[in-house]
Amino acid sequence: MSIRSVMTTLSRNPLVRQVRRRTFRSTADYWESRYAKGGTSGAGSYGRQAEWKAEVVNGWVAELGVTSVIDLGCGDGNQLTLAKYPRYLGLDPSETAVRGCIERFRGDDTKSFLAYDPKSMADPAGWLRADLALSLEVIFHLIEDEIFNDYMTRLFDSAERYVVICSNDTADDERAAHERHRDFTRWIERERPQWTLEKRVEPPAEVDLQSSFFLYRR
Ligand SMILES: C[S@@+](CC[C@H](N)C(=O)[O-])C[C@H]1O[C@@H](n2cnc3c(N)ncnc32)[C@H](O)[C@@H]1O
Repeated sequence: MSIRSVMTTLSRNPLVRQVRRRTFRSTADYWESRYAKGGTSGAGSYGRQAEWKAEVVNGWVAELGVTSVIDLGCGDGNQLTLAKYPRYLGLDPSETAVRGCIERFRGDDTKSFLAYDPKSMADPAGWLRADLALSLEVIFHLIEDEIFNDYMTRLFDSAERYVVICSNDTADDERAAHERHRDFTRWIERERPQWTLEKRVEPPAEVDLQSSFFLYRR
């Protein structure tokens, strides 16, 4: 049994879920306090999981001639150490995570970072846009419906040509307090019909990841 399946079994225990839900305030608070305590972006951003995620995104960036990438939910930057992007902007609501990325990539003038509060940021004039908008294991962590809707809208409005999503696409509430799986492909069909799903890639058997990759083209 993998550590991930043990954690999933534990997190489905009604008592554990009740205690966690009571202490959970919001998605943004959860992540800021996790990083502030020295926590990381999670197992999916390290080891073989991170390598596989990088292989997929780096492959598409090269193959499609992508000129710039905007990453909504860049996290602690460990995943980013494996990235090969010509020009990059990483955003995250956690100031601690973003400060860590700024420190980690100091001297790399292809990478910029910005901490943002989704509730007090609007960009209809399109300042924060790139050729490809990226979402790596963020969607199933968006607990509140308004945060999920805002995130999906922002993700697609940030992309000129492509959107790449790494997430789980099955709605399921029976999770840890900081996880809520959603069938986000239905949101896209309904809200962004001008975008087409070009590719879907599943993780190989040896990669212990609950997410798949989805490539959308406008
Ligand atoms: C599991 S981590 C993934 C980090 C990174 N994408 C990776 O793959 O290593 C989820 C990240 O989503 C961020 N996040 C939470 N709510 C968000 C929102 N509304 N917009 C953007 N990012 C958000 C968290 O702060 C956290 O850094």
